[in-house]
Amino acid sequence: MEKLVIEGGRPLQGRARMEGAKNAALPILAASMLAEGPVGIDNVPDLLDIHVMLDILRSLGAAASMEGRKVCVDASKGFASEIPEALMSKMRSSIFLMGPLLAKFGEVTIYQPGGCAIGERKIDLHLMGLEALGAKIVEQGNRITCSAKRLMGADITLDFPSVGATENIMMAAVKAEGITTISNAAREPEIGDLQQFLNRMGAKVIGAGTDTITIEGVERLASCEHRVIPDRIVAGTLMVAAAATRGNVTLEGVVPGHLLSVIHVLRRAGVQIAIDDDIMNVSGARRPIAVERIVTSPYPAFPTDLQAQMMVLLALSEGLSVMKETVFEGRFKHVDELNAMGADIRVDLNSAFIRGVPRLYGAHVEATDLRAGAALVIAGLAANGRTVVDHIHHIDRGYVSIEKLFSQLGGQIERTASVQQDRMASSM
Ligand code: EPZ
Repeated sequence: MEKLVIEGGRPLQGRARMEGAKNAALPILAASMLAEGPVGIDNVPDLLDIHVMLDILRSLGAAASMEGRKVCVDASKGFASEIPEALMSKMRSSIFLMGPLLAKFGEVTIYQPGGCAIGERKIDLHLMGLEALGAKIVEQGNRITCSAKRLMGADITLDFPSVGATENIMMAAVKAEGITTISNAAREPEIGDLQQFLNRMGAKVIGAGTDTITIEGVERLASCEHRVIPDRIVAGTLMVAAAATRGNVTLEGVVPGHLLSVIHVLRRAGVQIAIDDDIMNVSGARRPIAVERIVTSPYPAFPTDLQAQMMVLLALSEGLSVMKETVFEGRFKHVDELNAMGADIRVDLNSAFIRGVPRLYGAHVEATDLRAGAALVIAGLAANGRTVVDHIHHIDRGYVSIEKLFSQLGGQIERTASVQQDRMASSM
């Protein structure tokens, strides 16, 4: 099993260009099933989850290929409306196929994706939305079939601005008869990117980025070309790493407007951030200052996907910080690992009380999920001594070769197979 071996204590320096956003590319790839001709999607990150999505599209009869960062999908010959359970179990985001397949074939069969390390992850809002559009939902064990002769536009209000439910309802409603409105919709930038892709295919969607999205159904969706937005969560991860290692890093190809809550919190922690169009310089020359209170919440508030990474910076700050997680009920699994590295963090219900310490120490730790894994890598880069991170398959789901990302910024980090690691131990 592969591990990451990190020699910490070096300030990160240099420039990094942003990859496309995983959480934008995945629903867009699913939506490509709606087109009656080939679509070209550029700036797609070369990630595990992307390849699982391409496997799913192929299993549904679409032609799907990836060269470099460009994906071509031709779903005009697509014939299947059931997603194989084996593929479904590999990736929760296969749920994004529900809306497009229901709109394309009038039926879709999926398997309950179940929970993951960070929470229960229910899909009741997805099903409620599709039912409101006229779909009949039949659940047999963990097998769910939705069917509708003709989807009809509807007014849908979400109890919670779920990203996935908003995206699935958008993708089903683009071919429904009449007008659909989604109120209390998610406002994440990835929703805006999906709206743009759908409209390039000929859909009529407005309002993404606000809490009300309106969709006028159309008969046909055609070929198009699209470029995926940069990954704001990878950008945020690099910003925190620059600050936690007291480094100076310049990010290229970012959209600062997607990171306002993150920039605000980092500046409150004393981090210097300079912005020039799509270039952002982050400098953490001095010890960070504690941030009294951070609450994760749907966009544009502080993102839950940067909670773990930010906790590393707060663990090294001066003073007491409180981090409240309100989106996922099980997203503090990195705390024990950080405490094993010398952090002083106490959890009470959905709040973490972080008393800053002057330094962290290398240790053998385990990634429990994607963002927790990224946080442990940052902690290892900032710590004194060597850190070994296990279970890095979680990290590969969301970062394109994280060791290259950080070694290009001067971090000493290597990916090893366990045997090689022992040899490294004796050589270093
Ligand atoms: C998306 O997940 C992202 N994934 C997540 O990123 C991100 O953490 C999340 O949005 C919130 O920003 C992708 O885009 C692929 P939600 P999603 O539906 O769509 C509850 C990462 O690290 N809920 O907004 O699954 C749910 O249980 C990943 O890249 C219901 O109760 O998130 C959760 O507590 C992790 N019923 C909350 O809402 C529903 O039907 C937020 O879920 C749907 C959701």
